[in-house]
Parts: sequence; C-alpha cells; structure tokens
Amino acid sequence: AFAPRVFSGIQPSGGLTLGNYLGALKRFVETQENGVETIYCMVDLHAITVWQDPERLRHATRELCAGFIASGIDPERSVLFNQSQVAEHAQLAWIFNCVARMGWMKRMTQFKDKAGKNAENASLGLFGYPALMAADILVYHATHVPVGEDQKQHIELTRDIATKFNHDYGVDFFPITEPVIEGAATRVMSLRDGSKKMSKSDPSDASRINMTDDADAIAQKFRKAKTDPEPLPSEAAGLAERPEARNLVNIYAALSDQSVDAVLAEMGGKQFSEFKPILTEMAVEKLTPISTEMARLMQEPDEIDAILRRGAERARAIASPILERTYEIVGM
Ligand code: ADP
Ligand code: NA
Repeated sequence: AFAPRVFSGIQPSGGLTLGNYLGALKRFVETQENGVETIYCMVDLHAITVWQDPERLRHATRELCAGFIASGIDPERSVLFNQSQVAEHAQLAWIFNCVARMGWMKRMTQFKDKAGKNAENASLGLFGYPALMAADILVYHATHVPVGEDQKQHIELTRDIATKFNHDYGVDFFPITEPVIEGAATRVMSLRDGSKKMSKSDPSDASRINMTDDADAIAQKFRKAKTDPEPLPSEAAGLAERPEARNLVNIYAALSDQSVDAVLAEMGGKQFSEFKPILTEMAVEKLTPISTEMARLMQEPDEIDAILRRGAERARAIASPILERTYEIVGM
C-alpha cells in the first residue's frame, strides 16, 4: 500500500570515513540511479547526543553535504537536507518517545557502546536516539532504509514503533520499513582493531581512512593496517578466522565493485606486502575525485547553504502532512 521511498541519514559528527562511503554513500548513489524516490539527511540532531563544538558542527554539516554531492548525490533528483531545518522530525520523535518502551531502548547495543561504562552520565538524547531515528524514517513513510550492519537493530526498533503505533491507534498509518543491508562493505572495520567498526568518532585517526585523506595518508594507513603473516587465501572461506585480512579484502572488493570471491581468485597467494599497495592504488583512484570535489564545494559555503535550504523545503512538503495526520490520529 505504501509507494517505495528510500530514506537514510549520516551524522555530521566529524569527517566522513571510508566506512560511511562504502556502507552508505556509495549505495545511496546507486539507489538514486535506480530511479526510486530518495531522501537523504544530515542528522545534526543525532550528532549532538554527544558533545559537539558549535563551530565544528556547522563546518561538519557543510562538509557532509559536500561529501554527499561529491559522491554523486544530485540535490535535484534526491531530497538532500539537514535534519534540524525540518522541525517535523523532532515533533514526531516526541510522539514516538511515548510509544517506545524503556525496555526496548535498554536493549540497544549502540547506546551501550557509546555510553560506555558511565551510562548514568550519558545524555537522555543518546538513550532516546533510536526513537528520533524512527521519526526520521517514518515522517516520510519511508519503506526502505539503506544502512550498514551497525544500524540493523535501530531499524528493528523503528518497525516495532510503527507496529505498536498502528496497533494502539487501530490504524494502518506507518509502513513497516525494511532495512537494506547488502554488499561486501556493510561493515568496514577499524584498520587497527578488527573487532571494532571503522568510525569517524574513533579517537585514533590511524584506525580509519577519512574521505579527505590525501594519497600519502591513505598509503600510510593501509601500510600500517593490522594484518596477519599469512598470504591471501584463494577462497572466501579462508578469511573466516582472519578479521583484519577479511576487512582489507572486503574494502578492495567494494571499491572495485567485485565480489570477494572474484578478488580472491585474482589475489589469492599474494602477501599483504604486495596486496596493500594494490589496495592503496584502488582507494586513491576512487577517493581522490571525491575529495577534490569536496574541497571545491567547501570554497562555496553559500552554495551549500542554499542547497540545504531548498532541500529542507522539499522535505517539509512531504513530512508536514504526515505529521499533521499523526496528530489527528493521536487526538491532537
Ligand atoms: P559513524 O559511526 O561514522 O558516526 P553514522 O552513525 O553517521 O557513522 O552512520 C552513517 C551511515 O554509515 C550508516 O548507514 C552506517 O550504517 C554507515 N556506517 C558507519 N560506519 C560504517 C562502517 N564502518 N561500515 C559500514 N557502514 C558504516
Ligand atoms: Na554511528
């Protein structure tokens, strides 16, 4: 009953990483090219669930917008905007705060990871983050959300909220959104620790490739990336117990648009000393045009702000009637 509509977002909580690119941006572009209606958002309200310096947040939001466009998101074909400029997100989030249960939220592993040992000192916003994320998605009646593996649990919570709302109010108003999690790079891991995901909020810069890193930085980070002394296997099964090796192969496969099996058929038997320069060359070839275009756009902050204002208007045109109808259903 719901027309296909894709929504996804990225936090302007620091510079973009290769994980964001392969797990999110590259796939957002592919989805846009498929001709589906696509809505992409810089989620600054999510970013401030942990402390953000105001000037850095403003800069990171513009840089993220530049990253979307440089990666291939066309602000005419996709709706591209900044979350805080569309108040309907926060308004629907309040309704969802009253639908979601404490017990559901307490099970969210990302909260546990981000809050760390001192959960009592985490912001209430960090705890409520998934209810806002549900509002981001459902205020557009989005049916599909391309995300990395790390967001799967939050999408399940979004489905639970939609189901409970529809049930409690006896309506069939919110769609039950599907996560779209696919490809070799749904989980790009840290270059320093194969058990942690690559993240812009990791304190170690050596753990990630930033989208703004130059060729020398990319080469150095891959050279120092943790691996093991074995050569590359010739089949994917040979990577099962080798998280660091698997990560680098996954990255290469995603960058070069090949399957892991195809990569190993070609690279099997090579030592990492031989494979890492090949990986570096591929990464530099794919990322340099993007970082160059990002740098150019960052010279035009007024142009970026105008794109975001226009995107917010288009987003509001969809979100506003859905919020109004929600209020009616709730009795407001
Ligand atoms: P970060 O963890 O870098 O702050 P966000 O929470 O803003 O990233 O996530 C933005 C998008 O990027 C989400 O779709 C998320 O699943 C994806 N993503 C983030 N890190 C990775 C990763 N290491 N591998 C694959 N996808 C990722
Ligand atoms: Na995250």
